[in-house]
Amino acid sequence: MGDTDIMAQALDPFRLTDKLDPNALEVMITRLEARGGHPNFAGPLSAYLDRMEIDDKANVLDLGCGTGVAARAIAQRPGFGGSVLGIDLSDYLVDAAKRLAEREKLSDRVRFEAGDSRALGLQSGSLDAVVAHTLFSHLDDPPRTLAEMRRLLPQGASACIFDGDYASMTFELSDERRSRHMDDAIVASLVTNPRILRQLPRLLKQAGFVIETVIPSIIAEIGGADFWRSGIEAYAKLAPRAGIVDEAEASSWLDELLAASAAGEFFGCCVYYAYIARAV
Ligand SMILES: C[S@@+](CC[C@H](N)C(=O)[O-])C[C@H]1O[C@@H](n2cnc3c(N)ncnc32)[C@H](O)[C@@H]1O
Repeated sequence: MGDTDIMAQALDPFRLTDKLDPNALEVMITRLEARGGHPNFAGPLSAYLDRMEIDDKANVLDLGCGTGVAARAIAQRPGFGGSVLGIDLSDYLVDAAKRLAEREKLSDRVRFEAGDSRALGLQSGSLDAVVAHTLFSHLDDPPRTLAEMRRLLPQGASACIFDGDYASMTFELSDERRSRHMDDAIVASLVTNPRILRQLPRLLKQAGFVIETVIPSIIAEIGGADFWRSGIEAYAKLAPRAGIVDEAEASSWLDELLAASAAGEFFGCCVYYAYIARAV
């Protein structure tokens, strides 16, 4: 199967970023940067970094860093003089992350490399903190990544897992049945683990973490779509891959939501959670 075929058929392309072609990855880069820079997303990131109280000299890992949204935010925190390592499955996204960090003159504090969160070549206990910003819902084996995170942290160090509870993501059309159909199709095509955030209390404990605090954020737009606009445009292209709706249904769903937004009648929402946990 060629790269283009994989992109056309795959469910959850974020799980396969090492196999995607540059066109698909460029679309991803644009979406990740737009999302990361939006106040609806930057706010929850800044809130959990505040709560983690990362030491100014800490060695921090941003796992599944993509274009480095979280890594750059950590490096830019006032007084931060430690080092941030961003690791991602995709060489292409790692190169983009390096360029973006250079552009913001952060290269003295941030570096990026390719790697797989399920088996990292880093030394045990060598980090002071780990963040995984919207990685976990794309993993096919979350306990393996949790075990790696725990191995890299000494006792008492903290980790944060932030992600959407995609099972809660919903957009409303005038027809309730069609809305539910598309909600199901989006979740099935976009993520591997739509309920992972609900399983973390158990999985974190099994991996040797104790939860310190959980910060929920509701990203809702009622009336007009701004944050969700680039999301629904991408979801309309992805959703048919799940075999629940066809392309025509997905495209009329998008048209209807954009019209609802123009009329001030849009409803779109997803709950996100930041789990801050300490290694025990
Ligand atoms: C939704 S993106 C989030 C990117 C970035 N953290 C952000 O929030 O902008 C998920 C990222 O996880 C990466 N990823 C998926 N599976 C991975 C794995 N097993 N190891 C490392 N990175 C992985 C993907 O390449 C992608 O960049």
